[in-house]
Amino acid sequence: MRQSSLVVVANRLPIDDSVALDGACEWRRSPGGLVSALHPLLRHTPATWVGWAGGTGPAPALPDVDGVRMQSVPLTTDDLRDHYEGFANATLWPIYHDAVEQPEHHRRWWDAYQRVNQRFAEATAKVAETGAVVWVQDYHLQLVPGLLRALRPDLRIGFFLHVPFPPPELFMQLPRRAELLRGMLGADLVGFQRAQAAHNFAQLATKVLGLPATDRRIAFDGRMVRIGAFPVSIDTAEMSALAGRPEVVDRARRLRHDLGSPDQVILSVDRMDYTKGIEQRLKAYSELLEGGHVKVRDTVLVQVAVPSRERVGQYQILRERVEREVGRINGEFGRVGEPAIHYLTQPFDRAELAALYRVADVMAVTPLRDGMNLVAKEYVAARVDDAGALLLSEFAGAAAELPQAYLVNPHDLEGLKQALLAALRAEPADVRARMRAMRDHLREHDIHAWARSYLSALDQSGSLLTRLGG
Ligand code: ADP
Ligand code: G6P
Repeated sequence: MRQSSLVVVANRLPIDDSVALDGACEWRRSPGGLVSALHPLLRHTPATWVGWAGGTGPAPALPDVDGVRMQSVPLTTDDLRDHYEGFANATLWPIYHDAVEQPEHHRRWWDAYQRVNQRFAEATAKVAETGAVVWVQDYHLQLVPGLLRALRPDLRIGFFLHVPFPPPELFMQLPRRAELLRGMLGADLVGFQRAQAAHNFAQLATKVLGLPATDRRIAFDGRMVRIGAFPVSIDTAEMSALAGRPEVVDRARRLRHDLGSPDQVILSVDRMDYTKGIEQRLKAYSELLEGGHVKVRDTVLVQVAVPSRERVGQYQILRERVEREVGRINGEFGRVGEPAIHYLTQPFDRAELAALYRVADVMAVTPLRDGMNLVAKEYVAARVDDAGALLLSEFAGAAAELPQAYLVNPHDLEGLKQALLAALRAEPADVRARMRAMRDHLREHDIHAWARSYLSALDQSGSLLTRLGG
């Protein structure tokens, strides 16, 4: 078996098997921040990505993509139900996002979580060369660092959590809290999006495991585990270049025309997830229409909501509620040929997304809680014309880096309405000044800077960074 000196381990592979099996060797990314972040980084790097290809049954053999080896890990239908849909997305996901939906606890789900983490650890142990750097990603695989260390003590192991890490009061609900913490502490470096998350983790290491801990390091099992904040980002230059292409500018022009040439276009782009605040946003918009503050012909809302985790009950209920509400608003406020909301559930390619960003006078990113939110950063990167107002939730990780956005508390309906109006009515000079400041920040703090800072902290010898061209 071929081995690599850099191995990324994530629940999801960046391509789905239907694309790979019919021979198309292009990256076709699944929507989602983790893949969006890592995709530009690994292209043209001799690395292996260990992950799940999306189906059930035996692991498909996948071709290399742009030099990156795809090593698929199989999930059975039981694993899919109990590990992915169960423990990962119905226990951990809600607990990690402020319990905005009720987390469920089932012993069978925990068994599956352990079993699947063991399978990922074994698959990784096979493809990592001696002394390799292994970078484990996200909440689906929190036990992998510990399991992998037991199998391969020679490896340098990093763990990065893309989602928020909750305060102790919430994490303490987890029946298997000690095992989850020990699993993460198998890494040499545990990275989070925000300093607050590292602080929560350190507090829990002391509270649950009795370990001496600071917000920078935790003594565990005779080793020093480093922890820290590494806010993830995007390939800013790539998105800016794409958004500046003449065909994208043309497409944006046509989109505005197709939308009825309104004065103002509001855009939201989300996975269909209850953490994204879609219902709250629709309610705010509906009340603005009802109060006559916005009018259908002058202003349109484009809501892109790509379905996600469709077999998980809470996601099914959300989709039904969102679609009922969109129908109600369009029925009540739309006119023939002029809906109040243009609602799209399709995945789009990067050029179409860039065109949508360029047509949006206001980008409404209002999650109730979000680890980072890359859509907000993509919007800023796409506004090469320095125009466009970003309405951003205080509860998105991105808010800490983009204080020039129009910040809002999405739980406060009146505040949300006022902030949306403020963004719609802002002076162009104010909008430009804010956008310029945010663009300056993202030019420097892009995905390459993120990877450099994380990997240089993980691999202190620096040899990996030299190979990555960092
Ligand atoms: P999350 O990780 O919770 O999905 P992020 O905002 O961090 O949220 O990342 C979402 C990623 O998915 C972004 O890169 C965005 O461009 C992409 N995405 C969202 N909706 C679509 C869509 N309809 N088609 C293609 N990509 C999408
Ligand atoms: C978030 C998570 C990722 C996940 C993505 C898409 O970004 O942090 O780990 O891959 O959502 O969700 P999915 O369940 O489709 O993989």
